Amino acid sequence: MNLASIQAAESKLLLNTYERSPYLFVSGKGVFLEDETGAQFLDLLSGIGVSALGYGHPAVEQAIAQQSTRLLHTSNLFFHEGTANLALRLAEISGMDRVFFCNSGTEAWEAALKVARAHATKAREDGKRLGTKFLALEHSFHGRTMGSVATTHKEKYRLPFAPVMPDVEFVRFNDIADLRVKFSEDVCGICLEALQGEGGINPVSQEFFATARELCNSTGALLLVDEIQSGLGRTGKWFAYQHYGIQPDITTLAKPLAGGVPMGAMLCLERAASAITPGMHGTTFGGGPLACAVAIAVIDTMRNDNLLAHIEEVGGYFKSQLQTLKEQHESVVDVRGLGLMLGIELNSAELAKQVATQMMERRIIINRTSETVLRFLPPYVLEKKHVDMAIDALNDTLKANKELAGVAPAGEKVHG
Ligand SMILES: Cc1ncc(COP(=O)(O)O)c(C=O)c1O
Repeated sequence: MNLASIQAAESKLLLNTYERSPYLFVSGKGVFLEDETGAQFLDLLSGIGVSALGYGHPAVEQAIAQQSTRLLHTSNLFFHEGTANLALRLAEISGMDRVFFCNSGTEAWEAALKVARAHATKAREDGKRLGTKFLALEHSFHGRTMGSVATTHKEKYRLPFAPVMPDVEFVRFNDIADLRVKFSEDVCGICLEALQGEGGINPVSQEFFATARELCNSTGALLLVDEIQSGLGRTGKWFAYQHYGIQPDITTLAKPLAGGVPMGAMLCLERAASAITPGMHGTTFGGGPLACAVAIAVIDTMRNDNLLAHIEEVGGYFKSQLQTLKEQHESVVDVRGLGLMLGIELNSAELAKQVATQMMERRIIINRTSETVLRFLPPYVLEKKHVDMAIDALNDTLKANKELAGVAPAGEKVHG
């Protein structure tokens, strides 16, 4: 099937959830994807933050090949060799005590919400006053299932499915006074992304994060930090919360964890974990032998190849080049992010849309989020020469579309 026939068939057969760009990718190597005509695309998005080691990485290929000849699935009724080995690594890098494995980001976040509710239920049984309410942040994104979407700020994602999980209140981003006013003993958990992804690459402030931790400590509520986009090295540390020196009670991982094989994980401290007993939560596929083997290979490769330092170096270079771009173009109003989770905010949604489209036509994959933000989530193996390619193309594209700067917002791009 060629691109046109696939498009025609999908438009009839698939649920109408995605606005796909008209490109058909068939393979990839390193930081490049190849389409059906053999054209190479520099990928600065890595499948929305997933293909962390790039494409065709030998460690990932070998882990898949080896595990596929041994065992793909056992269910969680039995043991296999991968789970404990992977959990050990995750506990080491996160400072957490226990892990629950699942298959996607939203499932990891659902597990986080359920643990927080179960923890509060147990606290009440023990005679403490802890309610059922969650505080989440404006511009947050935590996923699409009924609990995750209830803690996701954008109404477009939430309202058509009402009633979603009740008892969620949104706090203005980085507004400590608003957080303090909305926090009480009714709250079982505060939810945040240390560095918001879909919301437009927005870092929470040190003071806001510290206040959230302090408020949770004051009542026994839990601090839930979603690292599905920012976690596992993307920001130059294993977890974005480590930049703040603040340990959450619960964190979640998914996207890059198994290098492209679907996998999620909820990690928590013992005080949160102790609320869960057998049968309260579970999954058929979560933590299967294949996903575990690949995730172990991803983490070991990151350690052996010193990728955190590489991310910091190349990410720092990328950010400095984006800052130079900002000095050259009035339409660039802000440069944000850490490591290889970066964004530039433009002063026009129409300009952002055009730049993203035209970068794609120039065979460089970037993404627009939150209307005006161009987002970069490249594979961790990106090199400075790739950054230079991207900056040259961005410079040209921003120049070529100067007339769009400052124009009213364009239609919203649906999050994939
Ligand atoms: C911070 C964050 N949380 C949760 C999710 C949901 O993950 P998934 O699409 O794997 O369900 C995403 C996806 O973009 C995300 O960025």
